Amino acid sequence: MKLLVPVAAGLEQITKRQLLLLGYDKAPAENGRLTLDGTWQDIARLNVFLRSGERVLLCLATFPAKTFDELYDGFYSLPWEDYLTADSQILMDGKCAQSALGAIKASGGVAKKAIIRRLADKLPIGKKTFSETGARTIVGFSVFKDEVTVTLDTSGAGLHKRGYRSLSYSAPLKETLAAGLIDSTFYNPDRDVEKPFADPFCGSGTLPIEAAMKALHIAPGLHREFDFTAWACAPSGVLARAKEEAKDLEKRNLPLQIFASDVSEKAVSIAKYHAERAGVDKYIRFSVQDARKFRSEQKYGVLVSNPPYGERLSDENEVRKLMSEFGKTFRALPDWNAYILTSLPEFERYFGKRADKKKKFSNANLACGFYSYFGKAPKTENP
Ligand SMILES: C[S@@+](CC[C@H](N)C(=O)[O-])C[C@H]1O[C@@H](n2cnc3c(N)ncnc32)[C@H](O)[C@@H]1O
Repeated sequence: MKLLVPVAAGLEQITKRQLLLLGYDKAPAENGRLTLDGTWQDIARLNVFLRSGERVLLCLATFPAKTFDELYDGFYSLPWEDYLTADSQILMDGKCAQSALGAIKASGGVAKKAIIRRLADKLPIGKKTFSETGARTIVGFSVFKDEVTVTLDTSGAGLHKRGYRSLSYSAPLKETLAAGLIDSTFYNPDRDVEKPFADPFCGSGTLPIEAAMKALHIAPGLHREFDFTAWACAPSGVLARAKEEAKDLEKRNLPLQIFASDVSEKAVSIAKYHAERAGVDKYIRFSVQDARKFRSEQKYGVLVSNPPYGERLSDENEVRKLMSEFGKTFRALPDWNAYILTSLPEFERYFGKRADKKKKFSNANLACGFYSYFGKAPKTENP
């Protein structure tokens, strides 16, 4: 089967590397998604293990369509009876760019009509009514340059929903982005388990929790369910097998040095709660502290943070001042690496140092820079 893994802009190569480590060496990136071949067992594995992919889609077909009639015919020609049952709850999820078919809601209606017609013609059901009380199936169709790609969303809820983050505090990072950012830093606990990792603006705890999960090889999808397991067409047992594999790979009792702090007491208590839910609380040292007071006895370390953005102009002045003072704090740790995700314009000017590397990401629809500062890392390390 052909599988598609949509990824956020900027995370294509990181996610590709995650796939490679899972044994999938052919996954070209195109139009914001990675493409690979796989079985139901692979679908289960990808859902359980992938840290940065958005979801795992099963690609049913691509066909050209410029009109509603062509869209209807294309959908009708697909073997829906192999994937859906008479009670499947069918949700259409469409998007369209650079194509004649612009009206996405109307296109979704046409496509769904074709699916129902096909089921009515092919399924051995008497009354041919569709209750939609059964398993949820999100049918995706993306129309790009008049080419329709039809998918089934095997994940259901997006893969950022690991299950541990139930409370929110001040602009939390999406877990998939947080994991991807961490993967693009020098934090490599498999090589140096005691290397410190710090987030002095931890908010609800996403970065330190994802860092601990990575270090302990806790699969992000271990404690959640996925839509495909309720589908009649999916073999049973594949998810259980993938979760068993994940449990076997988990590590425990590592001497991790992960530090999480925030100036807000409430944020720290929420972060602790989330860490407990993720099963990593005993590996993270939490404290209520102003980031400008961040110090470390450790010579080398990795700091990954997304400080407040300052969405209003008055806040922006505050944030500039904070970044300028935090820049001085960081320069007292010359051998540390720092990675800062921010949408603050001219961040480097306020931080007081030109970044060694810059990457662009989008966080909650804000264009952000991910600014990397490299300290004098031990020579053995590779990015
Ligand atoms: C954008 S949020 C971080 C979100 C976090 N990455 C998450 O996923 O939940 C910025 C955080 O910086 C904290 N903050 C603001 N000023 C601070 C300061 N001077 N020192 C430490 N933390 C501060 C805020 O309380 C807020 O939790």
